[in-house]
Formats: sequence, C-alpha cells, structure tokens
Amino acid sequence: MRIRKVRLEDVPPAVELARRLDLDYPGMELDRLWVAEEAGEIAGLVALKEHPDCLELCGLGVEPRFRGKNVGTDLVEAVMAAAPGRVHLATIIPEFFEACGFEKSADIPATFLDKRNTAWCDGCPQERCTVMSREKR
Ligand SMILES: CC(C)(COP(=O)(O)OP(=O)(O)OC[C@H]1O[C@@H](n2cnc3c(N)ncnc32)[C@H](O)[C@@H]1OP(=O)(O)O)[C@@H](O)C(=O)NCCC(=O)NCCS
Repeated sequence: MRIRKVRLEDVPPAVELARRLDLDYPGMELDRLWVAEEAGEIAGLVALKEHPDCLELCGLGVEPRFRGKNVGTDLVEAVMAAAPGRVHLATIIPEFFEACGFEKSADIPATFLDKRNTAWCDGCPQERCTVMSREKR
C-alpha cells in the first residue's frame, strides 16, 4: 500500500470512491488530496481544505476491503505531515480521530458553525458530530 499525493489521473477514481462512501462534496477535486494506492487501485483518500479561518481534514475514507490495515491512520498522518498548522475536522467517529491524536476543539472555527446550516450536514446525525483539532507535530 502506498500513501501519496494525488496525481491528475487519480482524481476521477478518488472522487468516485468518495462518492461511493458518501464523503464527496462540491469542489473536492480542487482541494489537496492524498490517496492510498494498492496495485493501481485507489484504496483510500483524504482531503485538506483551506478555509479563511482554518484548515480542515475532510473526506477521509478507505475502501471496505482495505479497512483495518492502518490505511486510514496513514492517510491522516500524510495530511498532518503536509499541513502548515493546526488542522480541524468534524466527525461522527471521534474515537478514531482521538486515536490519531485529535482532541475535542474548545473553540470551534466559524467555518464549522456556518456549515451546519448548509447541505454539507444533510444526512449526518448532528448530535454525534464532534469538532476536533490537532496541532502539527
Ligand atoms: C474510518 C476509516 C477511514 C478507518 O479506516 P481504516 O483504514 O480501517 O483505519 P485503521 O486501520 O487505520 O484503524 C485504526 C484504528 O481505528 C479504529 N477504527 C476504525 N474505524 C473506526 C470507526 N468507524 N470508529 C471508531 N474506531 C474506528 C480501528 O479499530 C483501529 O483501532 P485499533 O488500532 O485499536 O485496532 C474507515 O473505516 C472508513 O472509510 N469509514 C467510512 C468513512 C468514514 O466514516 N469516514 C470518516 C468520516 S468523519
């Protein structure tokens, strides 16, 4: 398994994987993306989105056949290695991100508060949504 920055030719299969996992969002292909590649197949992806007030890790997903092999964790570490500063995220699986070194955010960037009023949050159980952040180390 290889974790690397996305290449132009990876963008369609990566966005397609995100769509299958219900993780895609408008403009995803324009964000900084990393993929996990196994024998030419895109097995996972993650995005780093730059907002005016914060950096956001989003769209983390691993093809079900490749889960449980640290691919998700390695994708998170690839983003953290490249991020220029603190990274935020909103998640319904805080336990996973806690294990990756993220902590519940004391102050939530306005970007995340604004998102709750958009289609971005449709279909996600808001009561389980946790905003977390991690400093680059
Ligand atoms: C979450 C996800 C990316 C994890 O990918 P993965 O490659 O299986 O993760 P890893 O193998 O690196 O897992 C590492 C640890 O996280 C735990 N973990 C994995 N998925 C988890 C989940 N959904 N909730 C809580 N913990 C989870 C594993 O049990 C493992 O713990 P262990 O080391 O103590 O055994 C993957 O399950 C996925 O794509 N899920 C669907 C999309 C999703 O929920 N994305 C996050 C949206 S916010």
